[in-house]
Amino acid sequence: MKPTIGIVGAGKVGGTLARLCLQHGYHIGAVYSREAAKKGALAQVVGADAATSAQAVVAGCDLTLLTVPDDALVGLASAIRMEHQMPAFPRAVVHTSGAQSMEVLKPLAEAGLMTGSLHPAYPFASVESALHGLEGAAYALEAEHDLLRDWLHDLVLALGGRVIQIPPGKKALYHAALVMASNYTVGLYGVAKRLLMSLGAERGAEDAALNALLAGTIANLQEKGVPNALTGPLVRGDAGTIRAHLAALDADTAALYRLLALATLPLAEARGVDTTEIRQTLEDFYAREKEI
Ligand SMILES: NC(=O)c1ccc[n+]([C@@H]2O[C@H](COP(=O)([O-])OP(=O)(O)OC[C@H]3O[C@@H](n4cnc5c(N)ncnc54)[C@H](OP(=O)(O)O)[C@@H]3O)[C@@H](O)[C@H]2O)c1
Repeated sequence: MKPTIGIVGAGKVGGTLARLCLQHGYHIGAVYSREAAKKGALAQVVGADAATSAQAVVAGCDLTLLTVPDDALVGLASAIRMEHQMPAFPRAVVHTSGAQSMEVLKPLAEAGLMTGSLHPAYPFASVESALHGLEGAAYALEAEHDLLRDWLHDLVLALGGRVIQIPPGKKALYHAALVMASNYTVGLYGVAKRLLMSLGAERGAEDAALNALLAGTIANLQEKGVPNALTGPLVRGDAGTIRAHLAALDADTAALYRLLALATLPLAEARGVDTTEIRQTLEDFYAREKEI
């Protein structure tokens, strides 16, 4: 039996998941959001009740998804708990934050509700784009109760996704991995763009160069994965080029470059590259920087 789904927070994630759950055979029991127009619009689209409070959603649905901003979770959990009466049958409340663990819902667990988190590892720019893009994405799942874990597993499979089960206490590690892959790629893009602009590159030309490079890298990653997608001087064992790069960069950027090279070297080594000279180059650079 599929659980009845409740949605609290009619934003990008709530709006997308509600529509997709409906498309995949789930009944959406109730929707709550503070703004009446937003709540009414989503409730109408998915054929749900427009509830008068978050607690009303929890009381009326088997599985409530709290798709509200991270900072609203603590207040919402205590508001639901204050009104909560032990239900005669299992009720679950799950949030969709990547940064917060299920611990933030502890007051609800203590009040007898099953709690967990289900984070779609996908950038929701809008409901429209996410409705198409979410297919095949991974979802990080935390839940202690077997029944809730089964519900969430089935839900992810129904939406065409993959589950990453997060062991207790490891949510921050999971989120750090996503931030490194997504946010810091943008950060590195910014650094590379600054370097190209310092050469006097024509405006827009630096974006053209970097976008083509990144698109090719992502295509290689999707096709070959790691370590085979790695190209460039590390995988050629080209210590002379690494030395030239370190000499060309300002001190802070060179220090960042060295750390990224150290993090990437194991991939070159997994390809059978002898990295002894490159490692020595990086060590020599570090020793010189410490002296200065
Ligand atoms: N955006 C992403 O890429 C993404 C990806 C994965 C996970 N997430 C997570 O999913 C959650 C929602 O993110 P989102 O991007 O969907 O945010 P969003 O578009 O800003 O939507 C959040 C909605 O929550 C409602 N809300 C705020 N406070 C509330 C409260 N106290 N009670 C009830 N409703 C409340 C707001 O509508 P009203 O003003 O009508 O209340 C708003 O529409 C966050 O935990 C976020 O970290 C986001």
